Amino acid sequence: MPSSLPVMFIFIFTTACMRLATSEYYSFPPNFILGASTSSYQIEGAWNISDKAESIWDRFVHDNSGRIANNETGDIACDSYHKYKEDVAILKELGFDSYRFSVSWSRILPEGFAHYVSQDGLNYYNKLLDELLANNIKPLVTIYHWDHPQLIEDLGGWRNDRMVEWFADYARIVFRELGPKIKYFVTINEPSILATSGYGNGTKAPGIQDSGRGEYLATHNMLKAHARAYHIYQNEFKSTQNAVIGIVDVCQHSYTKDANDNTSSEVGFEFNCGWTFHPIFSKEGDYPKIFKEQIAEKSKLQGYPRSRLPNFSQEWITYIRGSADFLGLNHYTAHVVQPGSNAQVPSYEDDQNLVVSFRPEWKATSVSIFKIVPIGFGDTLRELAEAYNNPVIYVTENGVAPNEGLKDPTRIQFFHDYVRELLLAINRDGVNVKGYHIWSLLDSFEWTHGYGVKFGIIEVDFNDPMRKRTKKDSASWWKRVLSSRRLQPVDCD
Ligand code: NOJ
Repeated sequence: MPSSLPVMFIFIFTTACMRLATSEYYSFPPNFILGASTSSYQIEGAWNISDKAESIWDRFVHDNSGRIANNETGDIACDSYHKYKEDVAILKELGFDSYRFSVSWSRILPEGFAHYVSQDGLNYYNKLLDELLANNIKPLVTIYHWDHPQLIEDLGGWRNDRMVEWFADYARIVFRELGPKIKYFVTINEPSILATSGYGNGTKAPGIQDSGRGEYLATHNMLKAHARAYHIYQNEFKSTQNAVIGIVDVCQHSYTKDANDNTSSEVGFEFNCGWTFHPIFSKEGDYPKIFKEQIAEKSKLQGYPRSRLPNFSQEWITYIRGSADFLGLNHYTAHVVQPGSNAQVPSYEDDQNLVVSFRPEWKATSVSIFKIVPIGFGDTLRELAEAYNNPVIYVTENGVAPNEGLKDPTRIQFFHDYVRELLLAINRDGVNVKGYHIWSLLDSFEWTHGYGVKFGIIEVDFNDPMRKRTKKDSASWWKRVLSSRRLQPVDCD
């Protein structure tokens, strides 16, 4: 009976969509913030325009030693320096509440230090902020997303403890000059990744290979710098500007390989998330106990006179503890852990005494270290709530990079399944998440992967001098979610 087929089809199709949409848990709470995320070096381009100085990423990519796929650079990237109005128009059209972007230290302070502020640099960010506010989009501004001036790196960068004050001076300029337009600040993006890859194994800028020492020193100084910026804001700007300030790091749940293993999951959590979150969000402050003990023990066995992990004085422990209004979570995958080590000695990886792997059934993505594990997102959120007394959490990045072009069912399915976990964690389990940002608005410069790994819901044509932007199917899916403020089925178009 061919004539009844379309009717049947519509019926099945509609009920599937309605079933998903009616679950009591699948609506966003009132005032929940849904946004999209980017970072300065990955999208702006205009790397040497006006008085902008060379950043560590400019140096790293121009150094041409084959460290970036196809020797690509962020010289032009998405050209958002010139095309920011188009980016804001896309955010507006899709209905996002918020835009997370970062400001470039080298654009604002071309000489690294606060004695000289670039008017052109400030103009760019003021124009971007004005455009966002005119369109009713909340700016969530990351003060530092991995791209400090090379001049500062030449003085030791994050391995020099003077960096704490240099960063604080820079943050103060950002607060003073741009702060009146901003209600959400992130101080530093992913200290742990910048530390391990920039100062440990050297795979990212500034490319320092000082494994087992450099990453701890860098993070130590970043935690202090974060706290300095936080306190500066509280003392000098909070009463007039009244923004909230947090720090962002990547964090994922570690499942044990062996069901009888009672310790590895906790060790995984403390090394992965506790390294930077525990000093700020735990009741007692400082690095996690297991983390300190394991590094001290390994250091001793390796003949070091003291732990390779620096100590915080009691004064710093107190100063850092509680220095955030929210926990910023970047989330991409889950891990499986078991006791052992197959990593370089010494290193942060080796200090964990864990072999990290994935379950074979977890779906691969174009980035080998990220497998798709939606339940891992829910478990991470619940674990953070439990560990730190249910802090306010903003998810600042979550996304995937399938190799699919404009038709991107894997990305839609990813967002559907991850947002579902998010909503269950909030509405069913009471986790205090107040906002969620996708990574990323645009395809952009994905660090050492160059432009081949594409996280955007908007395609950018990097062969086109105009850097044409085109919506992927996932952008349409997000538009439906944003207008309905509820989870939407993957296939209702
Ligand atoms: C986290 C980083 O903050 C961001 O810069 C990067 O592009 C994404 N992870 C995806 O790898």
